[in-house]
Amino acid sequence: MADKVVLAYSGGLDTSVAVTWIQENYGLDVITLTIDVGNEKDFTAVKEKALKVGAIKALVADVKQSFVDYFIFPALQANALYEGQYPLATALSRPLMAKLLVDTAQEEGATAVAHGCTGKGNDQVRFDVGINTLAPDLRIIAPAREWGMTREETIAYAQKHNIPVPITVSSPYSIDECLWGKAIECGVLEDPWVEPPEDAFTWTKSADQTPDKPTYVEIGFVKGIPVSLDGRPMNGIDLIMELNEIAGNHGIGRIDHIENRVVGIKSREIYEAPAATVLLQAHRALEAMTLSKDQLRFKEKVTLEYSDMVYNGLWFSALNRDLSAYIISSQRSVTGTVRMKLFKTSASVAGRKSPRSLYNLGLATYDKGDQFDQSAALGFIHLWGLSAKNQAQVQILADVEGPLSIMAHREQEENEA
Ligand code: ARG
Repeated sequence: MADKVVLAYSGGLDTSVAVTWIQENYGLDVITLTIDVGNEKDFTAVKEKALKVGAIKALVADVKQSFVDYFIFPALQANALYEGQYPLATALSRPLMAKLLVDTAQEEGATAVAHGCTGKGNDQVRFDVGINTLAPDLRIIAPAREWGMTREETIAYAQKHNIPVPITVSSPYSIDECLWGKAIECGVLEDPWVEPPEDAFTWTKSADQTPDKPTYVEIGFVKGIPVSLDGRPMNGIDLIMELNEIAGNHGIGRIDHIENRVVGIKSREIYEAPAATVLLQAHRALEAMTLSKDQLRFKEKVTLEYSDMVYNGLWFSALNRDLSAYIISSQRSVTGTVRMKLFKTSASVAGRKSPRSLYNLGLATYDKGDQFDQSAALGFIHLWGLSAKNQAQVQILADVEGPLSIMAHREQEENEA
């Protein structure tokens, strides 16, 4: 009996070809593992296809709940956005897939695991680093990184080996989907000057197709985790799926980004992430109300580090554990409700409330009931501006004549530059 390998199997062309290719080139028996992270698919058909192309066993794992609880919602609490743009959908799913590959290999007594990533992307990094971290002795096979076939050659290989070539292969795009969003690459999108054609989008409507009336949704959070929609308590999976529908219908969540990959390439990435866009905005709005100025500023730094850590494939790291400890602690008071207005491709905050709100009407109001002691401002301003005033007298005003000194400085510096 041959040794076994567990292959992460999507049912697409590359991973189907990989089943045969691994058998031919490595002499291993292939067990496929198809992982449901909310990528709508007919998993029965995928399973049948795996067996048809030669897998000795075809497994399907629905991990949507773990994905939401241990990956998506922690990232939401962190406000994670890579380079301020990308909600990290694919990047969050890969470490979970790596973990499942490792666990399945152990259960099935396999000596190797395999995935369909090429050698140019981030996903190979996330898979390989994750697998190496969890199971350093497990061999990793990445056929698409090794075989050196072009798209046409892969199709020819498939035809030669009776591997069904799906009609969708004619689709000009490479697509990766999960609950948190969809990534669209390749084809005309590789030219950053070309506006993404409408057919690249399937989760979001274009502006001219969206309703003429806004939809309002009330998102209830407990400690930074969304738990209800319009007052209805909801499981995270359903909440995200419903928001993807509602916000997608208003054309919200299209993202066009020139992204810095881990392997040094800049790539043009198109995303659709309606639920992520709305939830990240709502979560930030609630934090603005429930965290202090200092907490908010410190958390911005944590957000940046956390987003890079996830993107760069370092999920299973001590850094993740440390940052997560801070993030969880920061969410103690992030409880309340945010009302979002969804209209014509944009989401905006229409209202927010929290039992832990730091917004104090008695301090903020200009109407009656004002409790703010305005006379105290004088002494505060005197000390607050003291150092600037002192420095201006000794250095700034002395250097340049007249009251327009800052503009004069600018001219001086521009002349010197
Ligand atoms: N650029 C994104 C990322 O690195 C999306 C990658 C999409 N992956 C894919 N296999 N098509 O996370």
